[in-house]
Amino acid sequence: MIELKHITKSYTMGEQTVHALYDTNLKIEDGEYVAIVGPSGSGKSTMMNVLGCLDNPTSGDYILDGKSVAKLRDDRLAEIRNQHIGFVFQRFNLLGRTSALRNVELPARYGGKSDKERRASAMAALQAVGLGDRMNHTPVELSGGQQQRVAIARALVNKPTLLLADEPTGALDSKTGEDILTLFENLQKDRTITIIMVTHDHNIAARANRVISIRDGKIESDIVRQKSAEVTPPLRASAPAAADMPKVTTNGAKHALVPALGGSR
Ligand SMILES: Nc1ncnc2c1ncn2[C@@H]1O[C@H](COP(=O)(O)OP(=O)(O)OP(=O)(O)O)[C@@H](O)[C@H]1O
Ligand SMILES: [Mg+2]
Repeated sequence: MIELKHITKSYTMGEQTVHALYDTNLKIEDGEYVAIVGPSGSGKSTMMNVLGCLDNPTSGDYILDGKSVAKLRDDRLAEIRNQHIGFVFQRFNLLGRTSALRNVELPARYGGKSDKERRASAMAALQAVGLGDRMNHTPVELSGGQQQRVAIARALVNKPTLLLADEPTGALDSKTGEDILTLFENLQKDRTITIIMVTHDHNIAARANRVISIRDGKIESDIVRQKSAEVTPPLRASAPAAADMPKVTTNGAKHALVPALGGSR
């Protein structure tokens, strides 16, 4: 489980202090699929950086899997990232002249595995994202969607419990973005991984099971959509069943109720 307790992240520049996150409380259970939305500059990436142990908060505590990590040194944070967290970025961040396989092997390198084990995990991760037949291609020889799938394979190679994706479909056309979202949904089906995704697109956010809106460094709303049955009942558009209504968590945030957007998958 993930818990942010009164997390503030401030930047001081000259006379001015910006609270990129301010007194934020948040709990995310294992296996959740969460979207974070909010306007530019609202603190989404800052929250991801704290959640991903890329950055220490200015104050407050961050409990990751029962341990406080808010004040750990950089080397300990790096260890936690390597063991538990995978990252996917908007711009893929792959090494350009290096094959898909080697790009994915790279994080495995720090996991204390033998060469053979590393290669096997990288191949398995690429197969899992449907790129078993493109392992020796370099990023320039791959489409945008394929490059993002390599980046996802790289994020998954050490079997993280938490996958953080900052605008993962932002650089892709809508069809290719759709494939990436389907991949996330498949990954998340057995609930062995928690996925937290930043997006500015409310349609994309609606695919997640929970949508957190932030504004000015604060959580503005937090809506949990209950999983509806696979079968779409007739008439649901005019009369949504109670089970399809979103459950609203109590996070100290302002709550909003909107009809669930399920059923279109
Ligand atoms: N390293 C930094 N130094 C100073 N201010 C920063 C730094 N990083 C972020 N900020 C400020 O913190 C606020 C939140 O930034 P953040 O990058 O988290 O926004 P965001 O919601 O991810 O925006 P976008 O949608 O544009 O990516 C902004 O006002 C930004 O200017
Ligand atoms: Mg950002």
